[in-house]
Amino acid sequence: MLRVEGLSRRFGGVYALENVSLNVEPGELRGIIGPNGAGKSTLFNLITGHLRANSGNVFFRDEAIDSLGAHARAQRGIAVVYQGARIFRGMTVLENVMVGAHRRTRHGFIEAALRSPRSRREDEAVRLLSAALLTLVGLGGLGDRPAESLPLGQQRSLQLARALAAEPTLLLLDEPASGLREAERHHFAELIRSLRASGLTIVLVEHDVPLVTTLSDRITVLDLGRVIAEGTPAEVREDPAVIGAYLGSPRAS
Ligand SMILES: Nc1ncnc2c1ncn2[C@@H]1O[C@H](COP(=O)(O)OP(=O)(O)OP(=O)(O)O)[C@@H](O)[C@H]1O
Ligand SMILES: [Mg+2]
Repeated sequence: MLRVEGLSRRFGGVYALENVSLNVEPGELRGIIGPNGAGKSTLFNLITGHLRANSGNVFFRDEAIDSLGAHARAQRGIAVVYQGARIFRGMTVLENVMVGAHRRTRHGFIEAALRSPRSRREDEAVRLLSAALLTLVGLGGLGDRPAESLPLGQQRSLQLARALAAEPTLLLLDEPASGLREAERHHFAELIRSLRASGLTIVLVEHDVPLVTTLSDRITVLDLGRVIAEGTPAEVREDPAVIGAYLGSPRAS
């Protein structure tokens, strides 16, 4: 589904990421963890196209996507929630989700401006889909609220609904649980789990190791820009290199 081959990225003379490869299978939930500065966000941003690699490639369903823009990626079924992403203020909760669904609508700008019957039918379909997604993420009945009035945990659920509105097959999440309180975190984990159960492929970059451990099928561990371990949560947890990286003990390079 997603294949990263030999990705490297330097900032100045320093490698933020060096020769990283990984392979995510369809339906898999892949966690990416690592200590501060390990290169998680750099890897994430290279996968999403937000950053350009110095070398290496990213393939989605065997197509190199390195040079594709955001829209082309979305059309292929890749949805992204960036670290610190915001909801759209000044819009309702429902409108926030509908923005994410516009990719589905086939009508063009002129037709929309003329409000043709077809564009009106599609608007209605988008509205129904968006309302259904709000229910799915636990925000049913809140569609008419101003989006900024939601507490942080619900804003994260809203971002998820907005990403899902584009009907992705691959969902990329950077630190989706950061700043959430314990109960919110628990709810969010349940939501991610249910999305995975529905067959969505998910790449989850997260600081919270226990959270990633409970959710992931496989985990890739980065440290100092390199992959230091990969495997099931149980395998990774036992790995001396991982334990060393997190404890900051001396390690061979
Ligand atoms: N735009 C940039 N300019 C210069 N250096 C950068 C830039 N982005 C990242 N780096 C450096 O690259 C390394 C990896 O950073 P990155 O943000 O990918 O780590 P991270 O694993 O996401 O860390 P965190 O857990 O703090 O989010 C760090 O040493 C960081 O200082
Ligand atoms: Mg980061």
